[in-house]
Amino acid sequence: MPTLFRKSREMRNYSRLQKCEKRLTIGLVPTMGYLHDGHRRLIRESKMQNDLTVVSIYVNPLQFAEGEDYDRYPRDLQRDMSICEEEGVDVVFAPTDEDMYPEKPLVSIEINGLTDVLEGKFRPGHFSGVCTVVLKLFNIIQPDRAYFGEKDYQQLKVVERLVKDLSLNVDIVPVKTVRDLDGLALSSRNSYLSSEERESALSLYRSFLLAERLIKEGKKDASFIKQAIKEFLLSHDGVRKIDYVEITDENLRPLETVEESSRILLAVWVGNTRLIDNWRIGCEQV
Ligand code: PAJ
Repeated sequence: MPTLFRKSREMRNYSRLQKCEKRLTIGLVPTMGYLHDGHRRLIRESKMQNDLTVVSIYVNPLQFAEGEDYDRYPRDLQRDMSICEEEGVDVVFAPTDEDMYPEKPLVSIEINGLTDVLEGKFRPGHFSGVCTVVLKLFNIIQPDRAYFGEKDYQQLKVVERLVKDLSLNVDIVPVKTVRDLDGLALSSRNSYLSSEERESALSLYRSFLLAERLIKEGKKDASFIKQAIKEFLLSHDGVRKIDYVEITDENLRPLETVEESSRILLAVWVGNTRLIDNWRIGCEQV
């Protein structure tokens, strides 16, 4: 079994020892637990590039707004520990709320033009909460590299910018989205879906294939593609609402004309479950 630390002081001391005295490199995979094959991919990447791999498991209250799914977010530390053991993880850091936030933080981090669009617009305060916890984890664990999935593309961009603007001493390593065989992007939140809802949720992936086809046929107008995606999604019974469908460049700036390697990002409600997904045009495996 991996070593389990529940206190940041223990985690910090461990990292200090491994890094300063033993000169070992540390890879960090930050997660909120309920691990799946997407998380496993991040862990494997870290195992290949570092001497030690730390997985953090913490459902961060700061990144959930009132009325979101903080209370019902799936939690199972035993199961996660077994998965980490299977993957050869060295340390699991699963702090308590009292340890992470002895007081409500007064610092809040914003990144102009990045934390206030797309997810940030629909989930105000979300990325501020993500930035705070990620920065705390970096400070406690002192990783040489940290692994983030493209599944949460905006989060990846936000963290990259946080590191750049504040000169943090960590390399951010992006990892491609892991999908089920039928195309559904893996997510801990998929556990909320009934089997009929899961079927409707496949429309997200399929809407990307539709967009690929339209673009190959020469349709390059972003509004046209976005409209086609929206109509396709809403033609599925289980799709209740679309928060956004956007086509952007690599830095999340909206585009009027689809270019090579543009990205489609969307957030959709299937029943009571909010799902996000994204797709790099022309570059993903179909
Ligand atoms: P969580 O949703 O548990 O995701 C942890 C990491 O796994 C993130 O970097 C996410 O992008 C990646 N991931 C999730 N599903 C994936 C998939 N299907 N393929 C590839 N990577 C995937 O994201 C968070 O937790 C939190 O916001 C966190 C960064 C831990 C801060 O609290």
